[in-house]
Amino acid sequence: MKLILNLLLIASVISGDQVLVRLPYLDMIPKQFEKGRYDVTISNITTGRIIGGHVTKIIKYKFMVCLLLLKRYSPVKSNLLWCGGSIIQSNWVLTAAHCVVQTEGPVDPVNAINNKGLVVRGNTSYCITEKKGIDHTIIYHETHKGYNADTLDYDIALLKVKEPFEGKAEEIIKLAPHNYQYVVGSAARVMGWGVIQLDSDETSNQLRQVKVKVMDNKHCKAKFRKIGGSRFYISPRMVCAGWKKGGKDACQGDSGGPLVYNDSQIGIVSWGIACATPTPGVYTRVSLFAGWIANVIERTDKVFVLRTKLWTWIHGRS
Ligand SMILES: *[C@@H]1O[C@H](CO)[C@@H](O)[C@H](O)[C@H]1NC(C)=O
Ligand SMILES: *[C@@H]1O[C@H](CO)[C@@H](O)[C@H](O)[C@H]1NC(C)=O
Ligand SMILES: *[C@@H]1O[C@H](CO)[C@@H](O)[C@H](O)[C@H]1NC(C)=O
Repeated sequence: MKLILNLLLIASVISGDQVLVRLPYLDMIPKQFEKGRYDVTISNITTGRIIGGHVTKIIKYKFMVCLLLLKRYSPVKSNLLWCGGSIIQSNWVLTAAHCVVQTEGPVDPVNAINNKGLVVRGNTSYCITEKKGIDHTIIYHETHKGYNADTLDYDIALLKVKEPFEGKAEEIIKLAPHNYQYVVGSAARVMGWGVIQLDSDETSNQLRQVKVKVMDNKHCKAKFRKIGGSRFYISPRMVCAGWKKGGKDACQGDSGGPLVYNDSQIGIVSWGIACATPTPGVYTRVSLFAGWIANVIERTDKVFVLRTKLWTWIHGRS
């Protein structure tokens, strides 16, 4: 609870407005929503934080990692959960662009990455506290060029880490291929460490998961139109998932975490309006980025191999 209050304090000092917290782990509001007239208060709109669900263990979801802001870099003087992510290759993590791009909040993630203050932690059910977690240094990050902070379109980013994922509870997840057909009504799973439950004193940091039903974009648009006119932009790069009545069970997770169906990742947690409301959660449509992901990884790995060769060549000669 203290953590939350501190964060709100920091954010309100900076923005002059308590609701304009532009941090992935708190209410972050895309600009399109701030300007509009609609039936939701700003505080209903959140990015990537979902509440509810059930606790689980990393051993069941070994592809799950967290992005952790280390104590010395964190605005609250303790390790701070920043985002979720998934292991997609031995040195690569998939996450949301808004986890990596600078926001108006107190922390610049790029700066944090450059100063090794933001790390990928895997092999743990308790992102923040457990000693068994394995930290991975981020050595390269790339955000999709189409990313739009106002609409959260193309909300996808890749992180290359130095230490490969080799822990007992670290494993690669398959990605939905480019021709993947989203099955409307299928129950997918989303998982994460949503430590922030504003109505609770408990900051349980155990991994949680919840089921959500995949929706088609037409239906999703209609849902949002009901409460927000045409303000809410559901792009073809997004996929929605939730429950008809909203959820008592409506999930807890984190921005950047995976939406999983049939052992494949089909989405990345992006944004939504509060929790347990009839509006669904919105995810990045992963299948559309199969080519982009493969290209970035191939190109970047080549550069790193060249660099290593050059390094040994220079040092071999001197
Ligand atoms: C937004 O939050 C207010 C106050 O918590 C609540 O009364 C209202 O029903 C919420 N609206 C939606 C669409 O969730
Ligand atoms: C990773 O997690 C597993 C399961 O909790 C644990 O047994 C193991 O010791 C941890 N560390 C490594 C390096 O695998
Ligand atoms: C699940 O994936 C397997 C291959 O990985 C595929 O053969 C099967 O049809 C899929 N099932 C569903 C329900 O999508």
